[in-house]
Amino acid sequence: MGRRTFLAAVGTGLAGCTASPAPAPEVHLPVRKQPGVVTPALSTTELMAFDVTVRGRAGLTEVLRALSSPVADAVVTIAVGASLFDGRFGLERPRRLTPMPSFRSDVLDPAWCHGDLLVQVSADSREPVDAALARQIPGLTPRWRMPGFHPDGTRNLFGFREGAGNPDASDAKLMDEHVWVQPGDDEPAWCVGGTYQVVRLIRLAMPSWDAEPLEVQERVFGRTKDTGAPLGQASEHDRPDFASDPGGRRIALNAHIRRANPRTPESEAHKILRRGHSYRLSESDAGQIFVCYQRDVELGFATIQRRLAGEALEKYLLPFGGGYFFVLPGTDDGHVSLG
Ligand code: HEM
Repeated sequence: MGRRTFLAAVGTGLAGCTASPAPAPEVHLPVRKQPGVVTPALSTTELMAFDVTVRGRAGLTEVLRALSSPVADAVVTIAVGASLFDGRFGLERPRRLTPMPSFRSDVLDPAWCHGDLLVQVSADSREPVDAALARQIPGLTPRWRMPGFHPDGTRNLFGFREGAGNPDASDAKLMDEHVWVQPGDDEPAWCVGGTYQVVRLIRLAMPSWDAEPLEVQERVFGRTKDTGAPLGQASEHDRPDFASDPGGRRIALNAHIRRANPRTPESEAHKILRRGHSYRLSESDAGQIFVCYQRDVELGFATIQRRLAGEALEKYLLPFGGGYFFVLPGTDDGHVSLG
């Protein structure tokens, strides 16, 4: 992934999202998106949240301009939090952008939550990420930052493979359906080409997990640890067959994948693109930086998270931070856009 530049176009309005005249057949307007969402995950990713201390749109433009200045070999993705829309800048808020609520079993630490801006930097090594985040940018107060990594290919710190249940990020049509805000959505026009980003900082109870026998761990997820196949099936990409197992004999009713995606006609509307990372702050503090993207945060993350309440995985997790953000659209000339 090479150099990327995003300059702010604050206050200039729309990024290729003019409505097309009524019955035109499939007119494709060039809606630009930022990288770091559907592009392949890189080995090192750090999230850094800031509060903005400048006043007025011109000041905000400068801040975004500085943040989006190029850093070699880093992919920078810029998102905004609900607090940026408190009237300071006269901006029109993405309709579903609220502060992240506290869900059952969350123990949220305000020092690790929310932020006016979220900057995500990814690279294939540490140096470009450090370089991007070491820049001193006037008008920004750091709020929290969390360095993430992929420990072993696609496995998380609990040793399970991740990604099987994700929609295919290389399928542009699928991503338009589930990830990117589209023309005609019930959103301010400037939001087209953006996406809701949910971040959850989740400490993992590693000693308790490691003490569990393999079969317990597999029952918690509903998949085998080795291959990632749904329990009772042969390979990772086999579709779990819950319909023929209504009592949960093969895959428990409170297994993570069964709660997360019950695979009923109703649950089809609740699709998210997960892009998680692991973190390790100390010997005793390690976990998951859960990140997901969706076109509608209520239909996506929030519905799924409520369904996960009481799942078998819950007792090994401590969600303590994160937030709801909105990834800004890109523009034709490589800017980010904020209406
Ligand atoms: C530390 C916390 C978590 C861990 C360790 C974890 C781990 C996993 C694993 C191993 C899988 C199976 C492989 C895969 O499909 O990727 C999975 C699937 C999934 N997880 Fe999580 N997850 C966590 C939190 C969450 C949260 C907070 C959500 C959303 C609210 C979520 C939503 C999903 C979904 C939608 C699937 C796909 C289910 C399917 O289609 O079969 N997960 N997760």
